[in-house]
Amino acid sequence: MQEKYDTILVLDFGGQYCHLIGRRIREHNVYSEIVPHDISPEEVQALNEKFNIKGLILSGGPSSVYEPNAPKLHPRILEVNLPILGLCYGHQLLAQLTNGKVEPATCKEYGIAQVAIDKPVGVLEGLSEKEKVWMSHGDTVFAPPPEFEALAHTDNCPVAAFRHKQKPIYGLQWHPEVIHTENGMRMLRNFIFQVCKCQANWQMEDLIEKMVQELKTEVGEGRAIIGLSGGIDSSVATALAAKALDDKLTAVFVDHGFMREGEPEAIREAFQKFRINFIVANAQERFMDKLRGVVDPETKRKVIGEEFIRVFEEIAKKSGAQYLIQGTIYPDRIESGFRKNSDKIKTHHNVAGLPEKMEFRKILEPLRDLYKDEVRKVARMLDLPKEIVNRQPFPGPGLAVRIIGVLTDEKVRITKKADKIVRDEIEKSGLSESLWQYFAVLTDTKATGVKGDARAYGYVVAVRTMESREAMTASFAKIPYPVLETISTRITNEIPQVVRVVYDITHKPPATIEWE
Ligand code: XMP
Repeated sequence: MQEKYDTILVLDFGGQYCHLIGRRIREHNVYSEIVPHDISPEEVQALNEKFNIKGLILSGGPSSVYEPNAPKLHPRILEVNLPILGLCYGHQLLAQLTNGKVEPATCKEYGIAQVAIDKPVGVLEGLSEKEKVWMSHGDTVFAPPPEFEALAHTDNCPVAAFRHKQKPIYGLQWHPEVIHTENGMRMLRNFIFQVCKCQANWQMEDLIEKMVQELKTEVGEGRAIIGLSGGIDSSVATALAAKALDDKLTAVFVDHGFMREGEPEAIREAFQKFRINFIVANAQERFMDKLRGVVDPETKRKVIGEEFIRVFEEIAKKSGAQYLIQGTIYPDRIESGFRKNSDKIKTHHNVAGLPEKMEFRKILEPLRDLYKDEVRKVARMLDLPKEIVNRQPFPGPGLAVRIIGVLTDEKVRITKKADKIVRDEIEKSGLSESLWQYFAVLTDTKATGVKGDARAYGYVVAVRTMESREAMTASFAKIPYPVLETISTRITNEIPQVVRVVYDITHKPPATIEWE
């Protein structure tokens, strides 16, 4: 491992994409750390002992710079004399701090926008006159600060990008870290390598070593259990933990009854090859008992999160484990709203869904800073079987969050069948490799139909197929109509309780991938 990595610090203003910036930098083999938004020049200096700090990026955030409690920059942060790049909220803050004119936008911009690059220099070097970028802002910089110059504009935003005339300080109103910004990677590359002059001296293998060491140190002479759902995250966490702890580790697969058809069997088979203690906990009845009558999606997630822990505690008692390891990844944490300045989107079962009181000494989350595709990379490096590496993500609470409204045994059966049909047809059509996820949702709407010349009144199933790279943003997939037709025909023919199939054509944002 390298002694000191060239490092970019990302100042966290609570934006949904803050961590994505960190990961985009790592994609270029440059290390990056997320730090609090009000870090002082002295604290940056102190971090320099450990890393070679080469630049700062100010993330976006949900606040307006005018809100009384809006997160601020440290007033002397510009004294660090390092290159700085402000993104979205970070761009507005930079402008505000240096006396630019920032005001509420006359016309708010969300989504894809066309930006005119007036001066393709520095971060914008090599870009075309018009670029497609991802915007999401309420405030706008109307005039650059005195020592700055504007570099780009949109119809509604006269200073969409600026730079300091002498110092390497830049601001962009848009999000280069999001894939919808077509040349976003180029912009970040320009900042990392041209402006900050970083060397690409960090690699993913270093991270694996760091994660294994951390687990070894934390658990010491103790024992741990890990929740293994068969999804990629918990499988990778299990492989890492097995490397660190050997037989001090017990992996538990909790069958809560909301698994896909054939899932428990597939997982048992996949993990037979591993030399770990593997326990299947049959907990279908106790989960259903706790969930009877629950309608609110957040309550569902909390009930499931708590019950998972209770099952783990019982097994830990038997195996003498003091630590619980989870495969929580970064988007689970960010959407559960764990940071001071970010909004809670939904409670991921293994994050904010955890009960307050737990009998574990500590919960360890080796993958906590990674995105799904980084986890896949780690999986390949750890030689995990292909069928696990390429599995589509499946939420911990399983089909329970794809059945809207109260859960019943009948609804679970219907959803399992519909889900199986969607999976079969997508896989048969060869589309699965290009899709992030594809599944069925059982809505709580009923509709009229006609089956066998008679009136029918039954459930409406929604089909959702998504394209994404890391689940922070996603687009509904434009799969061919004949595939949708086969799915719809099979669902209505093979599941008597369903009379209608609809296709969900909503991107994330504004929707989330799962319905609950
Ligand atoms: P959303 O619905 O938030 O989903 O857009 C983003 C990704 O996360 C998965 N997901 C979960 N995974 N526990 C998990 O382990 C959960 O509680 C959970 N909720 C959503 C979802 O399938 C998608 O890939």
